[in-house]
Amino acid sequence: MPDYKNNILILFAHPALQRSRVNRQLIQYVKEIDGVTFHDLYEAYPDFHIQVNHEQDLLIKHDIIVLHHPLFWFSIPAIMKEWMDLVLQHMWAYGKKGIALRGKKLFNVVSTGGRESLFRSKGYNRHTMIEFFTPIAQTAFVCGMDYLPPFVVHGTHTITKEEIAAHGEDYRKIITALRDNKVDFDAVQRDKKLNSEIESFIIK
Ligand SMILES: Cc1cc2nc3c(=O)[nH]c(=O)nc-3n(C[C@H](O)[C@H](O)[C@H](O)COP(=O)(O)O)c2cc1C
Repeated sequence: MPDYKNNILILFAHPALQRSRVNRQLIQYVKEIDGVTFHDLYEAYPDFHIQVNHEQDLLIKHDIIVLHHPLFWFSIPAIMKEWMDLVLQHMWAYGKKGIALRGKKLFNVVSTGGRESLFRSKGYNRHTMIEFFTPIAQTAFVCGMDYLPPFVVHGTHTITKEEIAAHGEDYRKIITALRDNKVDFDAVQRDKKLNSEIESFIIK
């Protein structure tokens, strides 16, 4: 593995990629970046038989872990939950001797059918996007990882091809900046979305 400042693991989960409008495009912007390992969970484990040792080895080899998925019932797809349940073992990921993930960074890249205005405390969904990821953020905390705000693409049924491409470019920019240690994490932590003010997060 080449020696980048940060190696990035993208754990991707979409159960029907052939029908995808947004994520099938988004992954093209990041899959081939040097220093990035792209790992499609549904492709690797169509029968859900996750190889725990292999997944733990992958985690150890990477500094930044990305959970990339469509929002399903305000949460992650089933295989990603199965992955969490099996791979993040006691005394490995958490517990007294569970220090394997300490100091790594974690965030979600997520697409939602609902438009942005629905994801507000006074909107139809009654919560913000980052609030829906409270269980993931707490999991990261228990494992000694830093949880960053999510990269969010809203309104997947109506956004244009050009808008999808613009999100793809932003995704490439943030992943490359994270790899090269060119992200201002204090600025990121103050925001609710990793892709809201992307240029202000990236150190030139
Ligand atoms: C089982 C299921 C559950 C979904 N739950 C939500 C949801 O809770 N909130 C939401 O905004 N969109 C929801 N959606 C819409 C998906 O997030 C949306 O179809 C997806 O992000 C589109 O990405 P794609 O074009 O890559 O398939 C759901 C879709 C499915 C199939």
